Amino acid sequence: MPERTIVITGASDGIGAAAARALAARGDQVVVVGRSPQKTAAVAAEVGAESYVADFARLDEVRELASALLARYPHIDVLANNAGGIMGDRTETVDGHEKTFQVNHLGPFLLTSLLIDRLVASRARVITTSSVANRYFGHLELDDLDARASYKPNKAYGDAKLANILFTRELHRRYPPPAGVSAAAFHPGGVATNFAAESTSPMRIVYTSALRRALISPEKGADTLVWLATTEPGTQWVSGEYYEKRRIAKANAQAADAGLARELWERSAAMVALAD
Ligand SMILES: NC(=O)c1ccc[n+]([C@@H]2O[C@H](COP(=O)([O-])OP(=O)(O)OC[C@H]3O[C@@H](n4cnc5c(N)ncnc54)[C@H](OP(=O)(O)O)[C@@H]3O)[C@@H](O)[C@H]2O)c1
Repeated sequence: MPERTIVITGASDGIGAAAARALAARGDQVVVVGRSPQKTAAVAAEVGAESYVADFARLDEVRELASALLARYPHIDVLANNAGGIMGDRTETVDGHEKTFQVNHLGPFLLTSLLIDRLVASRARVITTSSVANRYFGHLELDDLDARASYKPNKAYGDAKLANILFTRELHRRYPPPAGVSAAAFHPGGVATNFAAESTSPMRIVYTSALRRALISPEKGADTLVWLATTEPGTQWVSGEYYEKRRIAKANAQAADAGLARELWERSAAMVALAD
C-alpha cells in the first residue's frame, strides 16, 4: 500500500499517541497534532512524524491548523478527530462557547469542514473518538448547545460525545462513499490516560485512584481507531456508524435522529461562522 497521510489530533498523549505509534510503525506518514508544544514535539520525535500545535478552545488556532495542513499535505487519507476530554466548572472559550462542546465537537467539526475538499479528493476516512458517555449522560438540546441554562461536566461531556456520533452520521449523509469520505465514531473503552485530569467530575476518581487498575492500556484503547484506519470501509466496517471493540455499538436514542443530525450540523456551522 502506498504511504498514506494520517492526521491525528490529541496525539500528544494517551489514545492518540498510542495510535500514532501503531500507525507510524506500519509505515504510514503520521501527522501528530497536540496542544502542549513539549508533549507534541516529544511524541513526534519518537515516531518520526511532523507535528502541529493547536488549542481547540481557540477556533482561530483550528483555522490556522487547517491552513497549515492544506499547505503541506496534497492528500490526507485519514483524519482522526481524537482530541478531547471532560472539563470542570463551566467555562466559555474566547469564541463564546462552552468549552467541552467546543473542544470535543465544534473544533473537530470546523477542522473537518475546512479540510473537506482535500478529504473528499483523497477518499479519506474521518474517525472521531466519541465515548460511551453519549449513552449515559447525553441529551442534546439544540437551543442550549452552550449549556447556558444548565451545566454539569458529565452532561456536557455526554452531549459533546453524542454530537460526535451525529456529526459522523451527517458527514456520511452529505459526503457518502465511494465519491465522498468514510466516517466512523467509536468508544475506546475505559482507558488509563490523562483523561479527566482537568475535570471536577467524579469520573476523575476512576483515573486517579486504585480503580485505575481496571482500565485498559492506551494501546488497547487505540485498537478500534487503528482498525478503522487500516481496514476497508464498505467491506470491514460501515460508514456512518458508531463502533466499540471493532463492532457497531448501541448509541444514545438521539443518535438515530437524522433530523437532529442535520440541524446540529447547521447550528454548528453557524457557531463556528461557516457558511453551511
Ligand atoms: N480515557 C478514556 O477512558 C476515554 C473514554 C472514552 C473516550 N475518551 C476520549 O478519547 C480521546 C483521547 O483522550 P485520552 O483518554 O487519550 O486522554 P488524554 O491522555 O488526556 O489525551 C487527550 C489529548 O487531547 C488533547 N487535548 C485536550 N484538550 C485539548 C484542547 N483544548 N485542544 C487541543 N487538544 C486538546 C491533549 O493535548 P495535550 O496533552 O497536548 O494538552 C491530548 O493529546 C478524547 O476525545 C476522550 O474524550 C477517553
